[in-house]
Amino acid sequence: MSFTMGHRRTNMILDFRANHCYVDGMKNNQAKKGTVLSGSTTSGDLTLGNYIGAVSQWTKMTEDYDAYFMVANLHSLTDHQDPKELRERTLSFYAQYIALGLDPAKCALFVQSMVPEHAELNWVLTNITPIGQLERMTQFKDKSENKKQINAGLLMYPVLMAADILLYRADFVPVGQDQKQHIELCRDMVKYFNNRFGDVFKEPAPLIAPKGAKIMSLADPTKKMSKSDPDKNGMISILDDPKVLEKKLKRAVTDSGTVVKYDENSAGIANLMTIYSVLTGKSYAEIEKDFEGKMYGHLKVGLAEVVIETLKPVQAKHRELMANRDHLASLMKQGAEAARAKASETLRLVYDHAGIL
Ligand code: TRP
Repeated sequence: MSFTMGHRRTNMILDFRANHCYVDGMKNNQAKKGTVLSGSTTSGDLTLGNYIGAVSQWTKMTEDYDAYFMVANLHSLTDHQDPKELRERTLSFYAQYIALGLDPAKCALFVQSMVPEHAELNWVLTNITPIGQLERMTQFKDKSENKKQINAGLLMYPVLMAADILLYRADFVPVGQDQKQHIELCRDMVKYFNNRFGDVFKEPAPLIAPKGAKIMSLADPTKKMSKSDPDKNGMISILDDPKVLEKKLKRAVTDSGTVVKYDENSAGIANLMTIYSVLTGKSYAEIEKDFEGKMYGHLKVGLAEVVIETLKPVQAKHRELMANRDHLASLMKQGAEAARAKASETLRLVYDHAGIL
């Protein structure tokens, strides 16, 4: 899939050809390859890594799948959040998804808390999940390490995730490698549930993003670029000002070499070349040729230009959406209604099987 942005060809996302609306997509269900669901917690702003590794893949999936994507604002309560900031960030996240190319007419794009069935199914699922299994989750162990007080929410985090997935009886869940264990737990929960209450759910499969789609931190290229990284220099926020982008890219950590050449062992330069390649559609060989006889510094300056150009229309679209709150609210309402149509049906089935009036 490719499209032209200014004078640049990119091999990323945004295909607006099929102009059918989500409701028609539902009617056409047989033609779809199955149901997908994914989401992202509202901590930090989305990064270039989220764009390349996740949102661009989701956008492609809306063509072929019955797709549900959500802003996981309930999950973010497991971290301390300022209520005012959380409210604003939830709106901004929703707008960021659209600005990055997710079309709310082609998928159910919604805010988790606006579909109360998530919290309801979550409660049922907590009653079939062994605590020991939750305590063994690596993310729980990492996040609870050195904490004096651990909230039950942090332990229950993957149960709410399972509720998110199972409410839509999703076949596939596109996630990063770090979430794979949570999907495996969800698969176990399907077995526990079906054994106790009868066949309601099927096991969802994780779709792990391909390796090239993994963007690393600019400050430590052995680590994944993360929106919740306290070191802001490592991440490119999709809302970063051009001046900030330029500064961050110029300061990106690389080894002591100089020749622009793709080498997996040279993590910093490999990461910069990956970003360059994904955003321009150029192969590593072409990039090497473009920068022949030049130094790392030239690549960084060139990349800053590419990133700034790529994000310019995204930032403009985000600003436009945030300036019209009524329109944003109406999109959120439509998304929640589309999601609830399926979620309420599943919850009814669950309550029936569990004997809950
Ligand atoms: N835990 C996911 C993340 O890191 C977000 C998430 C919440 C999610 N619910 C989900 C992902 C359901 C996939 C499916 O960021």
